[in-house]
Amino acid sequence: MRHLVALFFLLSLSIKAFAVGQFSFAGTDALPKEGSLVLPTSAGVPLAEGVDSQLSGAIASAVATATFGSDENSTLSLYAMAGYERVLLIEVGVDPLDELALRNMGGAVAKAVGAEAGQVSVNTLGLNTTAGAPAADVALGMALGGYAFDKYKTGEDKQGEATSVTLFTADPDNAAGHWTQELRPVADGVYFARNLVNEPANVIYPQTFVEQAKVAFRGIKGVRINVLDERDMERAGMGSLLGVGMGSARPPRLLVIEYNGSEADEAPIVFAGKGVTFDTGGISIKGSKGMWRMKYDMSGAAAVTGTVLALAKRRAPVDAVAIAALVENMPSQRAQRPGDVRTSMSGKTIEVISTDAEGRLILADAVWYAQETFEPSALVDVATLTGSIKVALGSSYAGVFSRHDDLAAQLVTAGSRSGEDVWRMPLHPDFVKAIKSDIADVKNSVEGGSGGASTGAEFIGTFVKPETRWAHLDIAGKAWEFEGSSMTPKGAAGWGVRLLDQFVRDNFE
Ligand code: BES
Ligand code: MN
Ligand code: ZN
Repeated sequence: MRHLVALFFLLSLSIKAFAVGQFSFAGTDALPKEGSLVLPTSAGVPLAEGVDSQLSGAIASAVATATFGSDENSTLSLYAMAGYERVLLIEVGVDPLDELALRNMGGAVAKAVGAEAGQVSVNTLGLNTTAGAPAADVALGMALGGYAFDKYKTGEDKQGEATSVTLFTADPDNAAGHWTQELRPVADGVYFARNLVNEPANVIYPQTFVEQAKVAFRGIKGVRINVLDERDMERAGMGSLLGVGMGSARPPRLLVIEYNGSEADEAPIVFAGKGVTFDTGGISIKGSKGMWRMKYDMSGAAAVTGTVLALAKRRAPVDAVAIAALVENMPSQRAQRPGDVRTSMSGKTIEVISTDAEGRLILADAVWYAQETFEPSALVDVATLTGSIKVALGSSYAGVFSRHDDLAAQLVTAGSRSGEDVWRMPLHPDFVKAIKSDIADVKNSVEGGSGGASTGAEFIGTFVKPETRWAHLDIAGKAWEFEGSSMTPKGAAGWGVRLLDQFVRDNFE
């Protein structure tokens, strides 16, 4: 056993990343007899029939000597078996697997097998599942779990890309169709979001975010992109958003991506994302510990852009809009000060108690713009808004806040189906009272206050008309992955794309 572990360690140094474009599907008559073979097992026994008898004998004796076959998604690597460089067993348990379970399984496979040079073959035959195209779900899990951001590595650590991954299934055409049409677009959306968030803030700032989005959407049908620059925002009266950008040499942008996929002329679903490309706190400056991670403060903007990218790529029959409020929060002689008063696009005035409560300031104008421009059928804002949400929910859930019970419930359901779980948090008149300002209409934070996530949500809610079906997602605890989980390697999680894609599929298609 020990030499197997040592060998795995050596191989894991040369593990390569997967890429969304390298998955293919084939019937088992074409199953290669070399490279890496992945075999799902139930209680340690391979599920696929017709695994060659020499191989099954060797597997049975290996499983008998190793401790394997009880924990779901645990793996066992067997090397130099019957012509294969490696056979990877993955335990799936005895219960039928739904889509999410298959995807988690794929994530575990990606982590264990890596993407060594040479061919990776996954035999999905015999899986006990409720999914319509199980091999495609396994591919999605593998693509997401096998993501790596290594573009800045130059030496041996550079992972490069795997050669190819083939999933073997009874109905390869069905799997390939489902992958290409339904699931690969979601992987593309998540990769887009992760790449932008992992990029450092000297590379991604408002203008370069816009440029990257334009590249990603190039050539996709039904998409219109509109970018508001500072002058446009001044004309529109977005004093709250502009105030946050004042301290930075990199001017703010409001990126608006409209996807028109429905035949009818209906009110769109609008997703508005916090896109603070770096949050120093501004004059209310943050401490230095962990500040580097504040490049992730545009995760909401990345998630909404990635979501609409996924919808547009899979030609979802809906109308949807992504609004990315892009700004860098810096201290400088031109920065706004604590105590400054700004007038928002809605006309409401805001006293800026803390320049570090900047996400709500940019979203105040973004949600108002969204309502004025689109009269959305649903408005969901996504933001790494507060440290408080991490105190409340840890990294297990994102928080959802809404005045509309049905909308909150739809998001909770989409969360458990997609594996991106959300937990409902309260709005309350007490939080509205708490943000009343002595000299302006509202203030952006409460010194020494409690219930910080709810205060932030109610602040945004100040700019949302009561009749607008609005929900706020606070993703500060989910957007950065500290440990690494089955479908999410360490770093930028791309969190929200899978949730919002599921939310649209379930309720608007
Ligand atoms: N981007 C932060 C939220 C955040 C803080 C995420 C820590 C992850 C870790 C946000 O802009 C912020 O600074 N929020 C303040 C609000 C406070 C000043 C009312 C916070 O949560 O401390
Ligand atoms: Mn802040
Ligand atoms: Zn912030």
